[in-house]
Amino acid sequence: MANEDVRVSRGVAAEIAERWPLAGQRSRVGLIGCGRIARQHASVLTTHPATSLVAICDANPAALAGFGSTYGVPEDARFSDHRQMLDRVPLDIVHICTWPDTHAAITTAAAARGLHVYCEKPMALTLQEADAMLAACRRAGVVLGINHHRRGDSRFLRARQLIAGGALGTFRMLKGDHGGGGRRLMAMSTHLYDLFRYLAGDVAWVSGHVLAEGREATAADVYEIEHEGLAAGDEVAAQFAFRNGTYAFHNGLGHVDVELTGTHGRILLYEGAARKPWPFGDARAAWSCYPNGEGGRSGQQGSGEWEPLDGISYEELCHPQHAHRRMIDRFRRAVDGEGTPLCTGEDGRASLEMALALYASHFSGKRAYVPLSPPEHPLAPLWPGRKMANERLA
Ligand SMILES: NC(=O)c1ccc[n+]([C@@H]2O[C@H](COP(=O)([O-])OP(=O)(O)OC[C@H]3O[C@@H](n4cnc5c(N)ncnc54)[C@H](O)[C@@H]3O)[C@@H](O)[C@H]2O)c1
Repeated sequence: MANEDVRVSRGVAAEIAERWPLAGQRSRVGLIGCGRIARQHASVLTTHPATSLVAICDANPAALAGFGSTYGVPEDARFSDHRQMLDRVPLDIVHICTWPDTHAAITTAAAARGLHVYCEKPMALTLQEADAMLAACRRAGVVLGINHHRRGDSRFLRARQLIAGGALGTFRMLKGDHGGGGRRLMAMSTHLYDLFRYLAGDVAWVSGHVLAEGREATAADVYEIEHEGLAAGDEVAAQFAFRNGTYAFHNGLGHVDVELTGTHGRILLYEGAARKPWPFGDARAAWSCYPNGEGGRSGQQGSGEWEPLDGISYEELCHPQHAHRRMIDRFRRAVDGEGTPLCTGEDGRASLEMALALYASHFSGKRAYVPLSPPEHPLAPLWPGRKMANERLA
C-alpha cells in the first residue's frame, strides 16, 4: 500500500511535528484564487513549519485585498494576473484554487517556470487538459498534486489500512452517496470516485444512468456551466467495476456516506462518523463513532458499544481541515523527494475519467470501458456550439 506509513492513530499535528521538528527549509508558496477553498490552503500554508505563503493572486480586487489582510500578505506581493505573480516573485510551489476552467492553463504556466503545482479538484474539464497538465509537469520535472482531500482524512486512511490488513476478508463492494449529477458530478462526485479508487484500485468499466427532473436525460439536457464545463441532467446513478473484482455503487444523495463490504464484515463511514468493522454474525461487535454535532461520542447504537477510533481526536475526525493539512504536508514532502502526493496528477485524471465515462455510458446505452476511448469529452458532440477547453490551451 502506497503511503501506508501515514500514522493515522497519532493525528496530523503529531505527524507534522515528528517530520519537521524544527522549522525547516520553508518552501515559498504563491496561491492563485483567493476564494472559499483557498482559506483552507492558506491556514495550512501559514502554520506549517516548511511553507511560507509569500504571494497571492486573484482577478477580483476585493477578494485579493480581504485575503491579503487576513493572511498577512504584503500589498506588493498581491497580483491580479497569475503570470505577473509567477514572473515577479521567486517561488517554489504554486497552489491553484481558481475555477476549474483555469486549472490547465495555470498549471502549464507554473510548470514551464519550474514550479511544483498543488491544484484544486476537479483537476480539469477534459482528459486532454489533464494530459497537458501531466505532460507539462513531467517535462519540467515538477511535482503535481490534486486536492481530493479525503485521501488525507483519518477515517478513510484507517479504513484503507483495515481493508489491506484483511479485516473485511475479501473486499467486494463499496456504496457511496455524495455529490450527484449536473454541476455536482464534477464538483463533488469526483471526490467520491477518487475515494473509490483509493480503496479499490483502478476501474475497468462504468455503467451510468443520468436523470433530468426524474426522467431519462437526453441530448436536450446537456448544458454548459460557466467556468465548470459541460454537464447533463441533474441526477446520476452508477455502477463501477474495478480491475480487482470489487464493485462500487453511487447514487448522488446525501453526504460522503460510504459502506465498505467484504466477505467477513463491513465498515460504515458517514460524514462525521466512523465505525470499526462490523463482523457479520456478531451483533454485539464494538463499533467506533464520532457523530456529527456536539458532544463527540454517542452512548449506544443498537446493541454495539460506540467508542473512539484508535485515539484520533473528535476534533480531527469532524473537521476537514485536518485532511487538507495532511494533504498539503504530504505534497510538501513529495517536493523534497519523499514519496508521492497522497493524490497525484494521475489520480486526479482517473477520477475525472470516471465521471466522463459515466456520461459516455449513459449516452451510448452501454458500459463505458476505461481507458475511455475516444478520450474527447462525451458530451461535446451533443453540444456543438461549445469551444472545447483544450482549444484554449493551444
Ligand atoms: N477540495 C475541496 O473540498 C473543495 C471545496 C470547494 C471548492 N473546491 C474547488 O476549488 C476551486 C475553487 O472553488 P471555490 O469554491 O474556492 O471558488 P470561489 O469562487 O470561492 O473562489 C475562486 C476564486 O478564484 C478567482 N479566480 C478565478 N479565476 C481566476 C484567474 N484566472 N486568475 C485569478 N483569480 C481567479 C475568483 O475571482 C475567486 O475569488 C474549484 O475548482 C472547486 O471545485 C474544492
